[in-house]
Amino acid sequence: MQTTILDLFQWKASNHKFAALTAYDFSFARLFYNEGIQVLLVGDSLGMTLQGYESTLFVRIKDIAYHTSAVRRGAPKALLLADLPFMSYSTPLKAFKNAEIVMRAGANLVKLEGGEWLCHTIKMLTERSVPVCGHLGLTPQSINILGKYKVQGRNKDSAEKLISDAIALESAGAKLIVLECVPFNLAKIITTTLTIPVIGIGCGNVTDGQILVMHDLLGITGNLIPRFAKNFLKNSNDIRSAIRCYIDEVQSGKYPSLEHTFQ
Ligand code: KIV
Repeated sequence: MQTTILDLFQWKASNHKFAALTAYDFSFARLFYNEGIQVLLVGDSLGMTLQGYESTLFVRIKDIAYHTSAVRRGAPKALLLADLPFMSYSTPLKAFKNAEIVMRAGANLVKLEGGEWLCHTIKMLTERSVPVCGHLGLTPQSINILGKYKVQGRNKDSAEKLISDAIALESAGAKLIVLECVPFNLAKIITTTLTIPVIGIGCGNVTDGQILVMHDLLGITGNLIPRFAKNFLKNSNDIRSAIRCYIDEVQSGKYPSLEHTFQ
């Protein structure tokens, strides 16, 4: 059966924690879906994991569209999120044009990084039948503002700003939030405050779902291994059992454990 955004709302309501993964091609998408991953993301992390750049800023909309159509063919029934890459949604008009490209490539939702400034764009996209997933906390497209990839929301002001951004995105019509690298307690407040599902990465086991970059899960990331990442292949016989282990540990709350969580 097709996984839809309604399933994610239901999972949130019933406290059924779900596991999501990035995927960029047909074969991995098919394998992930067949092992039980129902939510996939064609992330602009592909700029680093597939293309070898130092950041996500070099990714183009045509790259996302190309990988989205491949992933869609591999997992026709998954709920498929696709990133709008750097500068492709800097104005509402650009967002419309580029959202159309990735939706026609097979995405179910587009993911945009940023807070309150995106509300107008989110409202307009939603009104035009393009569901939006917000992305808050560590937003890698802002690396040149942030200076380095680090935990966000550590002080009172930045924590309050993240909470108000999350509420603003939901009010504007966002259907889902990815929350990246924020302390456990703040992630808990945001997850329980919002009625839309929150998918965490580097937020502890308090969010409604978890997402990992597939290369982190398989332990093939290279030098920069984020603290929240876990190599599930290490104690598994093969990729399929690593995926099943990831799903089990997310559902039981075993992953992310304290060692993968920021306080
Ligand atoms: O681009 C990506 O893969 C992402 C995940 C880290 C959530 O945004």
